Amino acid sequence: MAAIVLSGVDKVYSGGVKAVDGLDLEIRDGEFMVLVGPSGCGKSTALRMIAGLEEISGGTVSIGERVVNDLAPKDRDIAMVFQNYALYPHMTVEKNLEFGLRLRGVSKEERRQKVLEAAKMLGLEQYLSRKPAALSGGQRQRVAMGRAIVREPQAFLMDEPLSNLDAKLRVSMRASLSQLHARLGVTTVYVTHDQIEAMTLGTRVCVLREGRLQQVDTPQRLFEDPVNLFVAGFIGSPAMNFAAARLAAADDGMTVSFAGYTLPVPAERIAERPALVDYAGRDVIVGVRPSDFEDAAHAAEGWAPMRVTASVTEELGSEINVIFTIDAPPVEHKDTADLADDAVDGEDGAAIPLAEDKALWTARVNSRSRVRPGDAVEVAVDTRRLHFFDPATGLAIGPVAEDEDADGAEPAEDAAGDAPSLEKKTA
Ligand SMILES: Nc1ncnc2c1ncn2[C@@H]1O[C@H](COP(=O)(O)OP(=O)(O)O)[C@@H](O)[C@H]1O
Ligand SMILES: [Mg+2]
Repeated sequence: MAAIVLSGVDKVYSGGVKAVDGLDLEIRDGEFMVLVGPSGCGKSTALRMIAGLEEISGGTVSIGERVVNDLAPKDRDIAMVFQNYALYPHMTVEKNLEFGLRLRGVSKEERRQKVLEAAKMLGLEQYLSRKPAALSGGQRQRVAMGRAIVREPQAFLMDEPLSNLDAKLRVSMRASLSQLHARLGVTTVYVTHDQIEAMTLGTRVCVLREGRLQQVDTPQRLFEDPVNLFVAGFIGSPAMNFAAARLAAADDGMTVSFAGYTLPVPAERIAERPALVDYAGRDVIVGVRPSDFEDAAHAAEGWAPMRVTASVTEELGSEINVIFTIDAPPVEHKDTADLADDAVDGEDGAAIPLAEDKALWTARVNSRSRVRPGDAVEVAVDTRRLHFFDPATGLAIGPVAEDEDADGAEPAEDAAGDAPSLEKKTA
């Protein structure tokens, strides 16, 4: 096992596309690191540079103690698992599993033992004599994993390995992957465009956009402390609600006004985000997570009420998504525009047309709520969890700069503060 360190890594494809731009990332020994971001953001390119399948245009990649920039893939001691399995169709599962070991001249006895061990771990024992064509998609993907496992590499590199599987199988394979990682403890770099997959699998998650690192953090911190509008909108489902707003000083803390609503910003939130004070009397973008809403009838004390009219309700059994329009246009910022484009292709795409160019918000409320489409309803907001962004830069205002976890993620400000992609927009 080994740590993997990327320092100032660039990739410029012939034709001039800068697919990866100055990527600094430290993947710790034994860590499960997920690279996530929209299609085309450079995830696969970054992974393929670690694997040695793509030349590195600038910077260095180290695996363990070695800089591997000029090492051939086979000398890097890593195993790659792809989306399309890449199994040999004419070989049995057993032969597929032992192929890499055979190439390395491992004895027949040892091959047999390693293959059986991996097959057991993956529940493939009864399929060893089958050929890939006689397996389901999930079984094929497990063979592909098995092939990586028997090699006992320093690291696993996985590029969207579950994306050819149906939704239910993806969920169970996700669980298997987590168990495998817990058991083997092998450093893993896992690429996906699916933020739910990223959040459920990653020890830490690295969010990329247009080849640049946005934030690398634990799933929890990405959710609670996104460094900019892009991360805020990309992580979390349903997505964070945004509106152009204005902050004002108040007796006990501040207030935020948007779309005809005024909500208190409690002193405790300002203590966590001290830079908010400088924004009194100024425009900001406010963000509210759907899960920080509740039907006022079921809300905790101290949550701020908002009267809304439910346009659509999605009853999910355990909760209800209440979709409503607010009297303000959707936030027009390059960061959120990207996300909107992406959502159209996504599973939960833009099914509801925008009404008169008003922003659509989602509140996730208790399933005991009696709200029905067309109803006027009072929802309540946990104002201690409001998010605020600078409308010019898209950066979160005053996120906690100190870092609880000692050698953990870089301070939020560093991660995005020097991102030219953000600065360009203000120029
Ligand atoms: N072989 C290539 N030649 C030129 N451009 C490429 C090549 N591979 C990828 N790209 C471009 O590099 C960018 C990043 O691609 P990729 O790493 O595949 O993104 P992701 O895996 O995040 O979807 C995209 O703009 C893509 O079109
Ligand atoms: Mg890719």
